[in-house]
Formats: sequence, C-alpha cells, structure tokens
Amino acid sequence: MISIERTADRAANYQALIQIVADQLKNERDITANLATISAFINEFMDGLNWAGFYIMREGELVVGPFQGKPACIRIPVGKGVCGTAVKEKRIIRVEDVHAFPGHIACDAASNSEIVLPLFQEEEVYGVLDIDSPDIGRFTQLEEDCLTQIAGLISEFLAS
Ligand code: SME
Repeated sequence: MISIERTADRAANYQALIQIVADQLKNERDITANLATISAFINEFMDGLNWAGFYIMREGELVVGPFQGKPACIRIPVGKGVCGTAVKEKRIIRVEDVHAFPGHIACDAASNSEIVLPLFQEEEVYGVLDIDSPDIGRFTQLEEDCLTQIAGLISEFLAS
C-alpha cells in the first residue's frame, strides 16, 4: 500500500508525485502496469482533474491507453486536436480554454482546460500524456514543470 496524502500545498503534492513515479519506474518493468498506475497517481495528487491518461502511437495514429476519467475518443489522428498537434509539433501544449483552441476534440464536455506532453522513445514520439480539467486555466507553469518531469521519467524508462 502506498500512502497518498494530498495536502493544501500543490508544490509539495507534486514533489511527492514525482518521487512516487520515479520509484515505481525503478521497480516495475511492465509498461501497461506503469502507465495505468501513473495515471491513477496523477489523478490522486493533482486536484481538479476530470481526465488523466495516455494516448499511444500505433501505426501512425494515437490510440487511447491507460487513463482515469470518462470514456474518451479511442483514436486521434496526428495533427488533430490538442493531442495530435502535440505529436505533430513534438512539443508540450498547455491550453487555458479548450473552447478557444482550433480543432480541440471534446471527449468530455466537462473539460475546459488541458495540457498535453509528448513522450519520446529515443527520438520517436511514443505517445502523449493528456490531462484535462473542468477549470479554465487550471494548468500553470507549476503543473507544467511537474508533468514535464513525469514525462521525462517515462521517456527515460522507455529508453532503458
Ligand atoms: N481533448 C483532446 C482529446 C482527448 S480527451 O481530452 C481525453 C484533444 O483535443 O486532443
């Protein structure tokens, strides 16, 4: 049993989250088990989310992977939506208000802001980490820094 104690201090919660993910990736080699558990930890340690999970590249398009939240779109073409754009442009995309993002794919009508981080296996995009919130502007530099570290740990794991 891993203790999950979310406090009122977001920065402290994120440090705890990063440490738990780093330890887990050292101890477990199964990718499905790792991604499923990481999505659950993100959902526990980051307040105010309605979707947290992964899309994985399969034969040239994104296919939904382990996640927490409501059932979402199963396939997303590269270049479409926030996720497909993050893959095409190989960069993190943080969206204050998804309704203002051209081409945003509304999987859950409750989502108002979103952050998508590409995951790399060597030089190739392996997939994305996608997090949604019902709050406009939920994702700040603090969340981006935390999730960047988590995406980096996953990319290191994929290269190992
Ligand atoms: N909103 C995403 C689609 C995936 S869901 O948010 C889970 C997008 O525009 O790519």
